[in-house]
Amino acid sequence: MKDLIKVGVLGSGTMGSGIAQVAAQAGHRVVLVDINAKALDKAKNSLNKIMKRLVEKGTWTEHFANEAFGRIDFSVDMNDFAGCEMIIEAIVENIEVKHAVFSKMESVVDAHCILASNTSSLSIASIGSVLKNPSRVIGVHFFNPAPLMPLVEIIPAVQTSDEVTQVTRELVDSWKKVTVLAKDTPGFIVNRVARPFYGEALRIYEEGIADFATIDWAMTELGGFRMGPFTLMDYIGNDVNYTVTETVFAAFYYDPRYRPSFTQKRHSEAGYLGRKSGRGYYNYADGVEIPEPIKDIATGEQIKERILVMLMNEAIDALFLNIASKEDIDLAMTKGVNYPKGLLQWANEMGLANVLTKLENLFQEYGEDRYRPSPLLRRMVKSGSTF
Ligand SMILES: NC(=O)c1ccc[n+]([C@@H]2O[C@H](COP(=O)([O-])OP(=O)(O)OC[C@H]3O[C@@H](n4cnc5c(N)ncnc54)[C@H](O)[C@@H]3O)[C@@H](O)[C@H]2O)c1
Repeated sequence: MKDLIKVGVLGSGTMGSGIAQVAAQAGHRVVLVDINAKALDKAKNSLNKIMKRLVEKGTWTEHFANEAFGRIDFSVDMNDFAGCEMIIEAIVENIEVKHAVFSKMESVVDAHCILASNTSSLSIASIGSVLKNPSRVIGVHFFNPAPLMPLVEIIPAVQTSDEVTQVTRELVDSWKKVTVLAKDTPGFIVNRVARPFYGEALRIYEEGIADFATIDWAMTELGGFRMGPFTLMDYIGNDVNYTVTETVFAAFYYDPRYRPSFTQKRHSEAGYLGRKSGRGYYNYADGVEIPEPIKDIATGEQIKERILVMLMNEAIDALFLNIASKEDIDLAMTKGVNYPKGLLQWANEMGLANVLTKLENLFQEYGEDRYRPSPLLRRMVKSGSTF
């Protein structure tokens, strides 16, 4: 690793300020740029506060915090990126705006500077298409909050050189992150494989099989997930989660497997966005109790298995389409969204023939394409192999 290169971060919002902290605490000089001086001020204050809290908790020494904070330069001028060897862009999710800033960044930096994007849903190939040297573009996808979540998806575009991929991965690994390599396809690994956690839960609710609290109970108590799907959607925000689902659905040419749900759309339209608006699937107002689940084990097991086999099928299909390696698909879900186990390993434990039978039963009962088993699952069951 080239010692402590200068890292640029564009956008000082939720993700950009977290990424700046990660790079600064790893010892890099960091230039954090935002067009909005107020946003930059807010980031400066919040980084200062976060680092002070780390000192109070005894996680960092005061000296370490002062050094880390002192390594970050705050600026409203992209020309200050001069001399950076890598810039990570984390601005608004809009392709035209990203095109404009990537052209500008390239004009400021040296020939070898890597230009990375933290985009969640846009194509890295498209972002890189405006560059004179597109082999230096790459996706570096952190999870929120960036300093705490260990996973980073590294996404080379078709134009990206092998050297850029290797240097980027080594650099992010040196920040004590867990990196996985993902193909430049919608949702990369995590945001693709996790879709059924929300989609199938919503569908089960829409069919009247169970209410929100019961589905959440099945997934936490019986499934071992840290949060149930409705609690999690209320955390993420129904507006944000719905938009991601809609984007992924369109990006996959309307594959029915990713079809959004009217229940979520209506909640979002009604302003029931989740915790941030005080009400989502649950009502968070003071004095209002979260409803009790109906703890019927047989129904709970059915709910858990239906969501789980859909998640496993998605993970298996991602492997079938070479989106990532088997190891990286399992790492991504345990380190990026805290799943209790990797889905491929879990499918092995459940028995692949069992997973296939459950999916085939759903496919037969509903006659819907969303339940089609991955060809890789069929092949593995036929040959008697495991992941
Ligand atoms: N929020 C998440 O959970 C999350 C997770 C992973 C990836 N992402 C991705 O990270 C990116 C940023 O998301 P966020 O949630 O941090 O957004 P945010 O709204 O919190 O912050 C965006 C910042 O970019 C600044 N900005 C906008 N246009 C700019 C420009 N032209 N030049 C410089 N600065 C500009 C804004 O002033 C703002 O401070 C998006 O691409 C998003 O898809 C978000």
